Amino acid sequence: MEKGRVLIVDDDPIVRDVLSNILGSVGGYGTDVAVDGLEGVEKVRTHEYDMVFTDLTMPRLNGMDLLRETKRINPSLSVVVITSFSTIESAINAMKEGARDFITKPFNINTVISVADKIVGEKRLLGRLSSPLDSQATIGRLNTELFSNLHEIGMFHTITTELDGMYSNKEIYEKIVEMTARLLVVKEASFGIVENGSLKIECGLGVLQRHIPIDGSLFERVLQSGNYYIALPGEVNPHTGVPLASPFFSIPFIMNDDAFAVLSLSNKADGTAFTESEISLALAFAKKAALRIENNALYEVFYNNLVNTLKALVTSIEARDVYTRHHSERVVSYSLQIADVMGVPAEEKDVIRFGGYLHDIGKIGVRDTVLLKPGRLTDEEMAEIRQHPVIGDNIIKPIKFFPKERELIRHHHEKVDGSGYPDGLEGEQTPLIVRIIQVADTYDAMTSSRPYRRALSHEVAVAELIRCMNTQFDAEAVRAFLQTSAGRGGANGD
Ligand SMILES: [Fe+2]
Repeated sequence: MEKGRVLIVDDDPIVRDVLSNILGSVGGYGTDVAVDGLEGVEKVRTHEYDMVFTDLTMPRLNGMDLLRETKRINPSLSVVVITSFSTIESAINAMKEGARDFITKPFNINTVISVADKIVGEKRLLGRLSSPLDSQATIGRLNTELFSNLHEIGMFHTITTELDGMYSNKEIYEKIVEMTARLLVVKEASFGIVENGSLKIECGLGVLQRHIPIDGSLFERVLQSGNYYIALPGEVNPHTGVPLASPFFSIPFIMNDDAFAVLSLSNKADGTAFTESEISLALAFAKKAALRIENNALYEVFYNNLVNTLKALVTSIEARDVYTRHHSERVVSYSLQIADVMGVPAEEKDVIRFGGYLHDIGKIGVRDTVLLKPGRLTDEEMAEIRQHPVIGDNIIKPIKFFPKERELIRHHHEKVDGSGYPDGLEGEQTPLIVRIIQVADTYDAMTSSRPYRRALSHEVAVAELIRCMNTQFDAEAVRAFLQTSAGRGGANGD
């Protein structure tokens, strides 16, 4: 059945042919053509159409005059203007005169069809509203439709916002399956990634997680075409190899023009076919999710590069100074042991892992003659060394990713009684993980040799930590350290 009747008015036969094909063969509309404005007006007067597409510059009667005449003959008939980018201003003038929309040459098939669909959809809606028959029921039905649309839009918004906050691919895949299954109310859903000629099902609802050979399956068709496909009952279910009992909807996920994954939805709970609005909802969601995965991949590459660069910087600082070699690694190891005893959450431990490694990164800004001086430091030199937490903070500041690591770098020389530097923060003014690092850093500094003194023994260092509980160090963190294997005298916690 035709979606509607369209009149195409243009003096260029190629434009008439192309538009007729797009609207007719692809769009599902019935089409009629007129070779100029005069014939167009004649046809509007004598035939029924749902909309008119018209060129502006034509012999005998131009598009503007056709528009005015059409509005006079049938005010509710929508006119869409055909234009090129160079004459877009005249299209806008036409809209001021009552044209509904315009399309530009060369035509984008999807745009042309969505313009037509929008106009016809609205016309049907208005038709139903103005029909005196059973208007109460119509309004009720429209309200239900509106409510369901709003519900879908709201849900779509929630899902896409949730996706934005996700950085783990596994989590994103699970969300894609869970959400689309809920949106389209299907009993079976799966998300698979292309891997060595198979589709590796990463996440599935009601289907087995396994590798499905792509060759010859309907996944091959979806991946090669880059378009969604709805397999009908009787076609082979790629998950089970047996004929489908209900429609099977597959959507390719595309990154850099490459289809890299397939989302499949099947077995609707109510046994019906997928509706147009369900299909477009799932496609919009898939587009958004693919973008999220792409961003994630870019983010991961960028993040890993950044982490490696910063770590290389720390290694190069430690390479300058034989006395502090591997100091950062040991501080991280001691801190993680303390964190385990104190039950610090996993995300905070990640901050310790990376921020602890970087804690002395600001030493890059301290001169070798000061950093490596074999004797006691002058007050001035001491002041220069004490700049390193601030320098480190300034190095990390422009990179917006690491706010907690920055705190750790800036405050690792604070003391709980407020006598530390650079900000003289007291006790819980610094986060717990910073207080943990303070203990680990000091212990390692005491038990490592320095240019001006030999390493202290484990016992002496521990006695010093205990003596300075509540003045320099957080008492809980010290007590926790004493329970770790490093705190009990086992090197590096083994
Ligand atoms: Fe330091």
